[in-house]
Amino acid sequence: MKKFDVDYVRAQFPALDRVVDGHPVAYLDGPGGTQVPQRVVDAVADYLLHHDCNIHGAFATSEETDAIIDGARTALADFLGTVPSALSFGANMTTLTILMAQSLVRDWSPGDEVVISALDHEADRGPWLHLEERGIIVREVPVDIETATLDWDAFERLVGERTRLVAIGYASNAVGTVNDVSRAAALAHSVGALCYVDAVHYALHGAIDVDAIGCDLLVCSPYKFFGPHIGVLYVEPSAGERIRPLKLSTQEEAPPCRYETGTLCHEGIAGVAEAVEFIADLGRHHAAEGAALDRRTAIVAGMDAMEAYEQPLAQRLIEGLAEVPGLRIYGPPAGHPRTSTVSFTLDSMPAPQIARRLGRQGLFVWDGDFYAARFVELAGLADSGGLLRMGLCPYNTAAEVERTIAAVRALA
Ligand SMILES: Cc1ncc(COP(=O)(O)O)c(C=O)c1O
Repeated sequence: MKKFDVDYVRAQFPALDRVVDGHPVAYLDGPGGTQVPQRVVDAVADYLLHHDCNIHGAFATSEETDAIIDGARTALADFLGTVPSALSFGANMTTLTILMAQSLVRDWSPGDEVVISALDHEADRGPWLHLEERGIIVREVPVDIETATLDWDAFERLVGERTRLVAIGYASNAVGTVNDVSRAAALAHSVGALCYVDAVHYALHGAIDVDAIGCDLLVCSPYKFFGPHIGVLYVEPSAGERIRPLKLSTQEEAPPCRYETGTLCHEGIAGVAEAVEFIADLGRHHAAEGAALDRRTAIVAGMDAMEAYEQPLAQRLIEGLAEVPGLRIYGPPAGHPRTSTVSFTLDSMPAPQIARRLGRQGLFVWDGDFYAARFVELAGLADSGGLLRMGLCPYNTAAEVERTIAAVRALA
């Protein structure tokens, strides 16, 4: 693989020109949503300016809208390693998950069980916890705060014959831990349960292959990987045959439309296709001279190139921060799979204050619980401002990492 061409990446993001009080902005807020390349903005604008319409009409702009949505579905199918008909669009991951939970419970009985994790974002906990009012028992896999990893022995004990679904995050948006989702899927299937994977954080950090995971359902949000604000749901075709979605009688019975309520965000969908193309283009840009990559191969190569670039930067960030007196990093131990998302606390200053101070220096970082509220509560940080989180993206640089370490050291 060629050396990562960060200048090529950066040149595509107009937002990187921003300056705050004389400081160039370093966007370390990627886990909350990445910046967007020009080609995505162009696709959104082109849709609204020239094709804007509702679907399934007998005239040009409607036919073009149908084609744009089909094209985006096909691009996302390459992104997730599946077929277009297995993918549905929605408002965002949270809304898709609430709808799916309320659909599935129609065929469950009081006393049936769902297994969730203490490490997950609330969007993969709350929709299942809501089902308690319907008599569903929700069991929680504990997390070890020291290692920020799930207790897999407990996980195995919690999955039993009444389990109907196992919900697990592919990666923690709070601390970067990557979970063994294939193992969770196998566990779920050993008792005939469904496996629901929240891939929202992971989708920026590694190629996803839904067949290799073996999950039944998977959700992700393109605004976390260079696209607009929409959500995507994967439903494994045979699992889908057992699902009765909450839908209108006027909606098509067949997937993918059976999971798509109301009019979708067509311009966002147009932009998603270009976000996938942006990743595929990175794969081609970094491939050996003359290699002709199909889109799926190019996407995997693009994700690999980004990870190979970001992981050493994350290591440097962790090492540099670890030397700051009074700083504690929360995350998985060395060697455990992780994303380039790094979180910490500082004895001398709560996270909200650090975020404000860094923000004024053009270092955009998040503070709080990032909706991974259960982990932050169990870590005992809920009342003290939570964590300070920095997430690396392919447009971040080694210089930004050094500047960030120096700024945190100065604050401490
Ligand atoms: C891991 C994870 N899951 C779920 C969500 C919720 O996604 P959405 O904003 O699309 O509802 C987020 C958003 O931050 C997230 O990071």
